[in-house]
Amino acid sequence: MNNRWNKWIYSLWSPVYDYFFNQGPFLKARCEVFNGIDFQAGDKVLFVGVGTGADLALVPVNQLEITAIDYSEEMLQQARKKFTSSVIKFHRMDAQELQLPDNSFDYVIASLILYVVPDSGKTFSEMIRVTRQDGQIIIFDKFTTKPSLLKKVIRPVIKVFGTDIGLSFEKIAEGHDGQRIILLEDHPVMFGGMYRKIKIRKK
Ligand SMILES: C[S@@+](CC[C@H](N)C(=O)[O-])C[C@H]1O[C@@H](n2cnc3c(N)ncnc32)[C@H](O)[C@@H]1O
Repeated sequence: MNNRWNKWIYSLWSPVYDYFFNQGPFLKARCEVFNGIDFQAGDKVLFVGVGTGADLALVPVNQLEITAIDYSEEMLQQARKKFTSSVIKFHRMDAQELQLPDNSFDYVIASLILYVVPDSGKTFSEMIRVTRQDGQIIIFDKFTTKPSLLKKVIRPVIKVFGTDIGLSFEKIAEGHDGQRIILLEDHPVMFGGMYRKIKIRKK
């Protein structure tokens, strides 16, 4: 995957995205991801790769200070349409190079984005950088621990559709300074553990 390809493929996905990824098991998993997150009024929350804004419907939008970024203008457009009367700050931005200050968010939310960006390690680093000390990073994504031979073979084909089926969260996290993050939660939320909710605190 590269940004140019993603931009194109998500412009195609944008009108139908919610039909596939914001109903049934996906919506149920999203609800589980946000269940128990103790947002406080005024918290600064960043949605990385917000897409059509599926997650935004599950948080108290009007009590939070929300910034939502995505590389695809078409996906952002879908999200903007749903939240016209809110004060969410939408920006077209590359998750691998966030144009946002260090230590500035109480929560950084990344749903279904690490498996999409060209460089998941760089994106994860950026997410840590912009999270404030004791702030939390919430990830909902598709990871694999031991990719089967079949997965290895079809991985490049599936990538064409804008998704990676062979990403290991452990590998992404390994490359980061373990001193800076603590894993608070890691549990399956969909499809027998293929999709997980991961909650991290920045030290
Ligand atoms: C599978 S969708 C997930 C959208 C949303 N977070 C959700 O949970 O439905 C992946 C999103 O990542 C965005 N994206 C891809 N590459 C990106 C990049 N380099 N920076 C920011 N967003 C990116 C796509 O435009 C798309 O909206």
